[in-house]
Amino acid sequence: MTSLPELPCYLNGEFTTLPHAKISVLDRGFIFGDGIYEVVPVYGGALFRFEHHMARLERSLKELRIANPATRAQWAEIALKLIADYALSIGASAEKVDQLIYIQISRGVAMRDHVMPTDITPTVFVMTNVMKPISAEQRRLGVACVTADDFRWEKAHIKATSLLGAVFARQISYDVGATETVMFRDGYLSEASSSNVWVVKDGQLSGPPKDNLVLEGIRYGLIEEICAQQNIPFSLRRISRAEVLAADEVLLSSATKEVLPVTQLDSQPVGSGQPGPVYARLYAGYQQAKATAHTAGQA
Ligand code: PDD
Repeated sequence: MTSLPELPCYLNGEFTTLPHAKISVLDRGFIFGDGIYEVVPVYGGALFRFEHHMARLERSLKELRIANPATRAQWAEIALKLIADYALSIGASAEKVDQLIYIQISRGVAMRDHVMPTDITPTVFVMTNVMKPISAEQRRLGVACVTADDFRWEKAHIKATSLLGAVFARQISYDVGATETVMFRDGYLSEASSSNVWVVKDGQLSGPPKDNLVLEGIRYGLIEEICAQQNIPFSLRRISRAEVLAADEVLLSSATKEVLPVTQLDSQPVGSGQPGPVYARLYAGYQQAKATAHTAGQA
């Protein structure tokens, strides 16, 4: 095993570091992928859209019938301590390093049985790491993606740690040097392996409906807000493969990508082959939302 970096983390009530954090081989997260997770961006030491991430964590836990092991305030407390510890460990101030908080809750430890045990304690793991920003070149040129059929399960709305479908999906694009795999179910756009996907036609932005076939990214709500501020028509609807291929712009969104233009799809240019004007406006709106949340100290 490659040695793990001495990054701060939290496991079941204790603050420790990655090399020292150990769980049971019978943890159902390990045996079944029976758990959920969240990835929360941290800008200038503040958790970005934290309440939205907490709401989604609560929805995912409810689907798995796992009781939330902490209150929102307790989650924030753990995350903020890790953010400060991480900054300290690299000798920087927390306001200077953007980070990504990862929260995972698995059902807990039990002898292997598919049935969900009801009397066990969830395993709680939280870590942080520096956020690697998208390169200036990717922002300037956009990224290449490939398409594939969506072979994942029909509960994609749960942010579950059983991610083999996503791993397979991502590998398809990785193997050909592309950034993401844009997926279609029955000929309609669902999402990418770890991002949501948006199309722009004639200045109007559309994304797939928030149903069980996609993970409702926290950027769904944020992009809708930015569109409202900037008078960009916004709709959620079923989008055919033909529409995606004929779009003026295609965008990815996620905690790490923020919004990112796709300028090549299956080796063909998207629209003009350059990042488009709606991307530019959304990106500017996104940066403004980050700055405002940060100065307001919004958790
Ligand atoms: N991925 N769809 C899928 C399947 C995802 O895994 C993600 C996020 C998104 C975008 O969600 P959000 O805007 O809340 O980041 C959509 C995270 C970043 C991950 O798995 O690392």
